[in-house]
Amino acid sequence: MERIGVIGGGTMGNGIAHVFAQFGYSVTLVDVKQEFIDRALATIKINLERQAKKNIITANEVATILGRIATATELKVLGNCELVIEAATEEATLKKKIFAELEALCPPETILASNTSSISITAIAAATRRSPKVIGMHFFNPVPVMTLVEVIRGLDTDEATFNTVMELSRALGKKPVEVNDYPGFVSNRVLMPMINEAIFCVMEGVASKEAIDTVMKLGMNHPMGPLALADFIGLDVCLNIMEVLHRQLGDDKYRPCPLLRKMVAAGHLGKKTGQGFYSYV
Ligand code: 3HC
Repeated sequence: MERIGVIGGGTMGNGIAHVFAQFGYSVTLVDVKQEFIDRALATIKINLERQAKKNIITANEVATILGRIATATELKVLGNCELVIEAATEEATLKKKIFAELEALCPPETILASNTSSISITAIAAATRRSPKVIGMHFFNPVPVMTLVEVIRGLDTDEATFNTVMELSRALGKKPVEVNDYPGFVSNRVLMPMINEAIFCVMEGVASKEAIDTVMKLGMNHPMGPLALADFIGLDVCLNIMEVLHRQLGDDKYRPCPLLRKMVAAGHLGKKTGQGFYSYV
């Protein structure tokens, strides 16, 4: 495999493009507006320079790696890719539309992967006529640093597709883990209720936000406390995933905390808006 398409230049998409280019693949990064692409390339450059400073790559490699990333604002350029990874906005209708378009554009052997954090791979696959070649490839933020790839089998995903994606993830220096397609997969099924519970603790005054984060950092050796992590992920993303768990698993233990809803309604989405549980201005 040599040619990889990445759809979406946001936090996850630019990280995915970065890692594939870093490991020698030719990447085509597609987003709907040139300004999103420019922002993605600027972020990739900063993160590559950060890696060069840490001697993970050499200073000369920064330009070489960036040179492996072509960009476009239309999907049609992805027709020659062997694997396309979609990391667009987390909306089921949008993802299904993208996959239906890819179906028409790409040769039948092209693997179509989604980096979705919560939408059913089986449902996305049903928007195509190649459900055996559709799979989940769930990366973690920051993608160049986090070694996990959650590889999600849709109901129809075939062995060859699964094995190729496992192998490819290892070729990126990642550790792939096999997971079946259920709401939240494993990562967000376990992580999000923990974050949600930490927000209940804030709401009920169990402790201050700093105290809650310190308990989890020092007591459980988490690199970040759950509230700082929620800010890092985005409170809108956390709420959206809790709603998927609540709706699809039908159990009230997944009900989103009212304080989480209130903060999202206020536009306090975390790091990206400058204000979440903590201030970033
Ligand atoms: N690109 C490249 N390198 C990066 C980077 C990036 N975007 N961000 C951080 N780094 C590197 C730094 O250069 C540094 O390298 P070093 O270890 O060689 O010195 C290392 O990562 C650590 O970074 P910092 O020193 O700046 O900061 P910290 O030590 O505080 O670590 C962190 C930052 C890696 C984000 C750490 O706090 C962490 O692991 N936090 C938890 C992250 C996490 O849980 N992510 C998963 C979120 S859930 C998700 O993505 C799924 C979705 O579906 C919701």
